[in-house]
Amino acid sequence: MRTENEIKYLMKAIDAFQKRLIVISPDFEILAANTPIAELTDREPVGNYCYELFNDRSSPCDNCAAREALADKRPSVCPKPGSLAQKGLMPCYYAYPIYNGEEIEAFVSMDFDIPTIDLLEEKLQRSNAFLEKLLQSAVDCVVAADMSGNIFLFNESAVDLFGYSLKEALSNLNVRDIYPGDGAYEVMKAMRGPSHGGKGRLITFHTNGLAKSGEQIPISLYASVIYEDGKEIASIGFFHDLRNRIKIRKELETTQVQLLQAEKMASLGKLAAGVAHQINNPLGGIILFAKLILEEYDLEDGVKNDIERILKDADRCRNIVKELLEFTRQTRHLMRPNDLNHALKRTLFLLESQALFQNIEIKEDLDENLPRANSDVQQMYHLFMNLILNAVQAMDGKGTLTLKTVAHPDKNHVQIEISDTGPGISEEALTQLFEPFFTTKEEGKGTGLGLSLAYNIVENHGGSISAENNPDQGAIFIIKLPIAHKKKQGEERGE
Ligand SMILES: Nc1ncnc2c1ncn2[C@@H]1O[C@H](COP(=O)(O)OP(=O)(O)OP(=O)(O)O)[C@@H](O)[C@H]1O
Ligand SMILES: [Mg+2]
Repeated sequence: MRTENEIKYLMKAIDAFQKRLIVISPDFEILAANTPIAELTDREPVGNYCYELFNDRSSPCDNCAAREALADKRPSVCPKPGSLAQKGLMPCYYAYPIYNGEEIEAFVSMDFDIPTIDLLEEKLQRSNAFLEKLLQSAVDCVVAADMSGNIFLFNESAVDLFGYSLKEALSNLNVRDIYPGDGAYEVMKAMRGPSHGGKGRLITFHTNGLAKSGEQIPISLYASVIYEDGKEIASIGFFHDLRNRIKIRKELETTQVQLLQAEKMASLGKLAAGVAHQINNPLGGIILFAKLILEEYDLEDGVKNDIERILKDADRCRNIVKELLEFTRQTRHLMRPNDLNHALKRTLFLLESQALFQNIEIKEDLDENLPRANSDVQQMYHLFMNLILNAVQAMDGKGTLTLKTVAHPDKNHVQIEISDTGPGISEEALTQLFEPFFTTKEEGKGTGLGLSLAYNIVENHGGSISAENNPDQGAIFIIKLPIAHKKKQGEERGE
């Protein structure tokens, strides 16, 4: 049972309701009316017949929602006689039966503006156009296809990514064409299975897309099957291009490796500098006293020879220490604008008389107009010597060594390429190549310091060095060094 208070508020709510509302008996006598009805007529509505009061008739109106509701025993809507639709809304009467058990006891009848079909269609069209725009301008590619794979939706990003025009895509492109190999089948299989976000769905599925150009594009795919009455009717996929993300990740990895490398080089440098310093002093003593003995004593030839041998070996030690100090940046570098073609030729000249070069064909492809690079020529000799020696050692005495120089298209660097026809470098070795002491050579044949020295030299010159395998055969080392400032060009050759 409703409380008096509840009834009071219900009545207030009905009155506050801006639509006209009456309750009528099955023979159309007005049983109750809200305030907007009372405002329509001077007479008291309750107790009158609605057709009499509102339409001045002696019998129920022909076009009456309550009459229809009485006949059909369910809610009914009728347009108001003589009214026209305005702004897409049609004024109507709405009648709703009130039951007492099985019997209709009364009707609620009220005014109601119903949107016309035109308005609904217009709204539908607007919402379709909006949806279309939304899909068309989505940052990710959106592609939808029917169950035979015929594409019927291909947005602007899809045109950009896959390289097909919209016309091409919609006229004869099949979803199988935008994946390499069995890709489309794999995607459908994963989508129908439960393991990628539930049946009929695919969440962050990493695969490759196939562009018109033949390029395979790494993508992350969100897709789903579209069902109608439980039947698969289409599928829709959202493709996210991963190339940029992969590029950034690679750059980050490279930076990390370089940082690690630099850190290692720095600590190795400190160690070597310390050792060099410690050796230099006793070495000075050995040389000094050996010389004193030679000068102050009248020695037998045999002893003299031995002392001279001591001096010679001590001198070699000094040279090694010097190299070590250079390696660890402890000596002053002389930076000059150098012709690196010349430095390369000079290094080659020093090396090629060695037995190891006997069956090596040497190809020079040197850019005659190579800009000079601001560099320490001594260090350039070290750099080229290590790379050339590595290349020739890798070819094991037979093959072709190619030296190429070229001005880098960015106009700020010169590029030097040293390539060979040896066995190339394994994937694993490629990641450790420039680390100190990394070597694949047997003990006594390699210390694994050549490339880390090369790395250090290039780094000190503000350049970069990388290694890769030639597509045909062998390895290629690519060095980029900054060119000398224009004003400094034309200065001495600096060797
Ligand atoms: N041109 C090349 N072809 C194939 N592998 C190479 C080439 N250059 C270098 N490597 C590989 O890189 C490793 C490291 O080279 P790195 O010059 O640093 O040391 P190393 O030559 O072994 O010893 P070191 O130069 O100190 O005598 C080599 O052992 C070899 O495995
Ligand atoms: Mg080496």
